[in-house]
Amino acid sequence: MKKINVGIIGCGVIAPAHIKSYQMLPDVEVISCCDLIREKAEKRAAEFGIKKIFTSYKEMLADKELDAVSICTDHESHTLLAVECLEAGKHVICEKSLASSKENLEKMLDAEKNHPELVFSGVFQHRFDSGYLYAKELVNNGVLGEILTADLTVMCLRTNEYYNADAWRGTWAKEGGALLINQAIHFIDMISWIMGGVKSVSAEYTNLAHKGIIECEDTASAAVVYKNGALGTISATSASPLSWQPTMTFNGTKGSLSIRDNKLFSLQLSDREQEEAIRQKFAEYTEEKCVSKSYYGSGHPRQLNDFIEAIRSGIPLRVPAHSAAHAPSIVLSIYDSCRSGKRVAVEH
Ligand SMILES: NC(=O)c1ccc[n+]([C@@H]2O[C@H](COP(=O)([O-])OP(=O)(O)OC[C@H]3O[C@@H](n4cnc5c(N)ncnc54)[C@H](O)[C@@H]3O)[C@@H](O)[C@H]2O)c1
Repeated sequence: MKKINVGIIGCGVIAPAHIKSYQMLPDVEVISCCDLIREKAEKRAAEFGIKKIFTSYKEMLADKELDAVSICTDHESHTLLAVECLEAGKHVICEKSLASSKENLEKMLDAEKNHPELVFSGVFQHRFDSGYLYAKELVNNGVLGEILTADLTVMCLRTNEYYNADAWRGTWAKEGGALLINQAIHFIDMISWIMGGVKSVSAEYTNLAHKGIIECEDTASAAVVYKNGALGTISATSASPLSWQPTMTFNGTKGSLSIRDNKLFSLQLSDREQEEAIRQKFAEYTEEKCVSKSYYGSGHPRQLNDFIEAIRSGIPLRVPAHSAAHAPSIVLSIYDSCRSGKRVAVEH
């Protein structure tokens, strides 16, 4: 088996989830890490035994030994970094949000088209969570009948301290937004993935509890039209006392299913026997082996394994870049809708 050498760009909060995930895989080595702030790269290198340290990603990319890169930086920098990594012949996995503006999203999609010889994935690790996968199977196999409405609520908490810790957070220029593009995006991706995509949105956003702290939104709501014709809503806030509570509800002609944080929350089917069997199956799901009982759960090891397998054996990615582009496209359309006061079509 060919050894795959990986580099990390951005050695902040999420980098360890990538490094630990790679270090679980056979014949994969994280050989380099890069951060604009040398001490941050040095800290990660010392923690995880990484040999090469860089403060310039260009120097890191010049390394012929390097096969693949994880991009773990602020949203605005994702586009330039991903494009340059692909141009340097490296496979890429980029953290969410793939881009922070529609213009940059186009550049990411062009880069993917221009480099069919390379693997280019976007992180949405919850696409590997067993409860969500089972919910997708049930919805897609028609167990709920025709889906009429699909609704998402995301209650979470991001404190003033969280926003003040890093200059890029909560800014239009570097994060591209706040609550929607950073926290709610995971579940906007999930509900749209399960439903087969969003066609258009009509939305509002506001800042209710972080005034003077962030320039972007901490609360938002949207009326959604899915590509399959169903309707739905998104309602989200990062000023809730509930630290992390994402809930998705699918209402169909044969019943209703609610999933909260990867677990069954409620189920009602016209067929009561089938309802009981499904309840049992949800109960059987246990969280599989994960890096640690960390805040980010067990999705990163599974997604990075998927990325490595795609490089090694050419299997199709679960989250190719063009698929990871849909949630940012929805989020950026929500912002456009609020600014224009009009319904906005979701392009990608
Ligand atoms: N999938 C998840 O659950 C999850 C969780 C947290 C963060 N994230 C994502 O991970 C990314 C990073 O978030 P974070 O919380 O780790 O941020 P962070 O601020 O803690 O770390 C980002 C690091 O990138 C470095 N950096 C920025 N531009 C660079 C460049 N050009 N070259 C080298 N280094 C550069 C910064 O110096 C900083 O150390 C974001 O896209 C975020 O949305 C994903």
